[in-house]
Amino acid sequence: MSILSAARVAPLSLARGALRRLPQLSRTASPQPAPGGPHRLTVVNVERLTADSVAITFGVPPMLRETYRFSAGQHIAIEDVVGGRKVRRCYSICASESSQQLRIGVKKVQGGAVSARIVDTFAVGTRASVIPPAGRFTTPLDPRNALHYAAVAGGSGITPVLSIMSSVLETEPASLFSLIYANRDRQSMMFADEIADLEATCGRRLRVYHVLESDNERVQRTHLAAINVPTPPDQWFLCGPEPMTAAVRENLDNLGVDAGAVHLEVFSGATRATVSPQIARPPAGTEAVGQVAVRLLGQTSTVPSTADETVLAAVLKSGLDAPWSCQQGFCGMCRARVEDGQCSEMPANEILTEDELSQGYVLTCQVSRVSARLRVDYDN
Ligand SMILES: Cc1cc2nc3c(=O)[nH]c(=O)nc-3n(C[C@H](O)[C@H](O)[C@H](O)COP(=O)(O)OP(=O)(O)OC[C@H]3O[C@@H](n4cnc5c(N)ncnc54)[C@H](O)[C@@H]3O)c2cc1C
Ligand code: FES
Repeated sequence: MSILSAARVAPLSLARGALRRLPQLSRTASPQPAPGGPHRLTVVNVERLTADSVAITFGVPPMLRETYRFSAGQHIAIEDVVGGRKVRRCYSICASESSQQLRIGVKKVQGGAVSARIVDTFAVGTRASVIPPAGRFTTPLDPRNALHYAAVAGGSGITPVLSIMSSVLETEPASLFSLIYANRDRQSMMFADEIADLEATCGRRLRVYHVLESDNERVQRTHLAAINVPTPPDQWFLCGPEPMTAAVRENLDNLGVDAGAVHLEVFSGATRATVSPQIARPPAGTEAVGQVAVRLLGQTSTVPSTADETVLAAVLKSGLDAPWSCQQGFCGMCRARVEDGQCSEMPANEILTEDELSQGYVLTCQVSRVSARLRVDYDN
């Protein structure tokens, strides 16, 4: 890893049109303490960020403070009921690690059930069902570090990046941060004021480059290469919709960036999986064609499972409180290790590394049972 000091940072010399700085914009009750949640938390602050996005802060009662302690870059999930079914959606925390403020940034997705409800109806005093912080889009911070961090955020993908960026700048005085922030246009940019404030406060330790579709720009190899000044970043954080993160990852590969230095968080793919876990119990007399032995919170239970349902669906159907959220292979909350037996291939996996796969970890929202008996461990 290269060591940088703030004094070594030279002004950027960039190919014209490759990266562009934007002018700064004007500033315009009682919870149930179950370890995995959900807990009923109350909204204590709502800030409108853009026409279709808000920042929401939840109050965390003292008895839940440890449960909701987060690392920069982690997300919570919000549980809602849509069409009679429980659904969960992940929302990344945008506050710095030292503040431990449970603040999220939510952008309304066209036709989206939960995001629209949050953006349009959440107000101070709204109570919501919240699942505690999780996720591995993080890095350990150390005041002795002198590193160059880079991030590429698309749209609402700025949310965890803002948390990481503000935490790095606050905790590691000798580290630098370079951000490429892609948006449709200037009006749709979340947290524009806060980013501008950080730029003003941190001087040359923070470099922000805006890429706007309205200017016919997309994040390209030239943008990424330009950030290699004065030294290549030690760590990369990519967050946003899957097409953008996939393209950036490929470009970084081509530029010879070590895959181990790239952290990835994917917010959405082409379509959301239509199969939700069946939370209702199966009708009496339903034949179970197989069984899954599940280790969860120190207990082992055996649950029936049909071949055409995911392991997660079988587990939840049996009333076990396994962790889950996106059901798209994005969040990693449903990860478990296969201890015995065989399950199907995962159609989507944006989380598990080759190493984890070789150790038998699977995303239980993505696999179904293949062998008649399967043993999975959520605790390991
Ligand atoms: C780990 C993780 C962290 C996340 N953090 C944030 C965050 O900080 N802020 C935030 O606003 N969102 C975040 N998301 C996305 C969020 O969880 C929801 O997917 C999003 O709010 C849409 O949910 P919905 O119920 O409104 O839409 P749905 O009803 O699930 O989907 C409606 C339609 O929109 C499409 N779609 C779903 N999500 C997106 C998307 N993000 N972009 C474009 N199209 C989409 C679907 O394919 C579907 O066609 C995160 C997702 C993950 C996995
Ligand atoms: S629930 Fe998100 S990856 Fe399985």
